[in-house]
Amino acid sequence: MAAMVLDQRQRPMQDLRISLTDRCNFRCTYCMPRSVFGARYPFLKPSAVMNFDEIRRLAEVAASLGANKIRLTGGEPLLRHDVSDLVKHLSQIEGIDELTMTTNGSRLSQAMARQLKAAGLTRITVSLDALDDGVFGQINDVGFSVKDVLRAIDHAQAAQLTPVKINMVVRRSVNADQILPMAEAFRHTQQILRFIEFMDVGNTNHWNRAEVVPAGEIFNTINERWPLTAVEPTRVGEVARRFRYQDGQGEIGIIASVSAPFCHSCSRARLSAEGRLYLCLFAEGGLDLLTPLRQGASDPELRSLWQSAWSMRRDQYSVERATLTARPKVEMSHIGG
Ligand code: GTP
Ligand code: 5AD
Ligand code: SF4
Ligand code: SF4
Repeated sequence: MAAMVLDQRQRPMQDLRISLTDRCNFRCTYCMPRSVFGARYPFLKPSAVMNFDEIRRLAEVAASLGANKIRLTGGEPLLRHDVSDLVKHLSQIEGIDELTMTTNGSRLSQAMARQLKAAGLTRITVSLDALDDGVFGQINDVGFSVKDVLRAIDHAQAAQLTPVKINMVVRRSVNADQILPMAEAFRHTQQILRFIEFMDVGNTNHWNRAEVVPAGEIFNTINERWPLTAVEPTRVGEVARRFRYQDGQGEIGIIASVSAPFCHSCSRARLSAEGRLYLCLFAEGGLDLLTPLRQGASDPELRSLWQSAWSMRRDQYSVERATLTARPKVEMSHIGG
């Protein structure tokens, strides 16, 4: 039976998000701008990245401390070979009832979707920021086309990695005009489109508040066209506010991380691809667990390191955002979203 560990604000650790790689085949302007993440960018060396066995051990440690949900992220998690082997092992960990993944969809073939499902992945989230190819190509900055992402979404749906969720990061000057087209495309489907307020993660995305389209405005835009009704959260600590179309044509979510932060219930721990434990998406640094693991630390020793870090945790960056002075932060591509 897993123990429950509480942080300084009485928040348990329930979700573990594991970055499988800091690399990505997209160069989304708000996440890995080409000017920074170019040919000379010092990505992690393969030897510095956790292997599947190391990931499994740390995930077991997290489960023993109360984590019941794991999300695989990146960079782009499907750039790692044989991810389904990892999924198979993680899905067998006692106490883990949900095993999910956030992907850009570029490597999500029909075969891959089926393999992931067979290995025990419960569901999948695909990022898609626009329905217009020109806008989307400019955002991903590698010219990847919308239809290929839509095909990946279909594969996920067919493989029953459901409900499939679609993440759209909204930026006022870039894709706010895509809110209605995106809503229209995913109405009538079983996929849940989630609109995410643009956040100041990392150090390179030129964030400014004027670029954030607040949740209320996103809601109004859609509600005026297709009236919405709020739906109860499925569980405590859910980041998206849920809404249903009154005409019965499906559900959407809005993630108000800037205008209405949800730090008070944040139960997420993050492991970077190099095995560092981050206690917040906006953390300056993380606790290296891979070095002790490689030096022979036992499971109880790793557990104790993890437990003391979590029990000291005070992070609530999004609540404090307005009062903080600028400081370096970990990159999103390092710890996933
Ligand atoms: P499910 O509801 O289980 O699908 O998971 P989720 O809602 O956590 O989904 P996902 O991992 O796709 O998160 C959606 C987005 O919400 C992320 O891409 C981030 O932009 C934002 N987000 C998720 N977790 C946090 C968090 O801890 N802090 C902040 N500020 N934003 C978060
Ligand atoms: N603000 C909000 N969401 C972001 N993501 C990446 N960068 C940001 C940001 N600055 C989202 C991606 C993806 C998930 C992993 O995180 O779009 O859906
Ligand atoms: Fe890659 Fe996702 Fe970042 Fe885009 S947002 S560069 S797809 S990790
Ligand atoms: Fe959690 Fe940090 Fe996000 Fe707040 S800002 S919800 S503490 S990850």
